[in-house]
Amino acid sequence: MALFKKNTTAYSIDNIILPEHVGIIMDGNGRWAKKRGLPRSAGHSAGANNFRKIIRYCSDIGIKYLTMYAFSTENWKRPNDEVTALMKLFKQYLEEALRDFQDDTIKLRFIGDITAFSKEIQDLMYEAVEGSKNRDGMVLNLAMNYGGRDEIVMATKTIAQKLKNGEITAEDIDEKMISDNIYTAGQPDPDLIIRPSGEYRTSNFLLWQSAYSEYVIMDKLWPDFTKEDMNYALIEYAKRNRRFGGV
Ligand code: IPE
Ligand code: IPE
Ligand code: MG
Repeated sequence: MALFKKNTTAYSIDNIILPEHVGIIMDGNGRWAKKRGLPRSAGHSAGANNFRKIIRYCSDIGIKYLTMYAFSTENWKRPNDEVTALMKLFKQYLEEALRDFQDDTIKLRFIGDITAFSKEIQDLMYEAVEGSKNRDGMVLNLAMNYGGRDEIVMATKTIAQKLKNGEITAEDIDEKMISDNIYTAGQPDPDLIIRPSGEYRTSNFLLWQSAYSEYVIMDKLWPDFTKEDMNYALIEYAKRNRRFGGV
């Protein structure tokens, strides 16, 4: 039951039906740096460069939605200097994205509670979203201060307020209403979630949306994750038999 585009049995990136929405948990920067005797921040720099490469590749091969987990609601627990280094990298990327805006086709979105970031970063985020909103290329969701639980709490509050205002009744609440009130409203659920670094957990990523996502866990640290690794994950996905609870 492989997802082939045409009548063939050869697994290659050109023959398979690609997932519409891919999520990537960019994990392993710290271990990558440690292995080289470098500070964790050097791992984050290498990870940020790899992020640039992989988003471009996904856009080139025709992925429609890509969600990249960059910073979780739990990552604030890290030492101050590490959080500061990450904020500097976010700022650099946003400035660069704005500079290269003319010839880009990627539509940038943010998922997560961005009010926690500095005004400077929030302004850049706003500018990047506004400036790219009319593009028709790949939608890139950057998960920043994102937590799946936090997202469900936010949606619950929005819905509770509507109930309180008398706009809806309790009976109106259904799965669609939750999906319509989370950050990814209007987007398809992720078909494939890739976690490099070999950890077998979600770490609070897309909890609601991933009910039937296919997971590919890879024993590669994020800065070492290549286009070939991406192809491997896509082919692995194409081999899966998605049943969605059916037979
Ligand atoms: C992922 O790499 C980057 C962020 C969470 C921001 P880590 O920093 O978690 O790297 P490891 O897991 O410690 O190796
Ligand atoms: C998940 O990685 C968050 C991101 C990659 C942004 P973590 O390194 O924070 O997750 P745990 O602590 O290993 O679960
Ligand atoms: Mg980690």
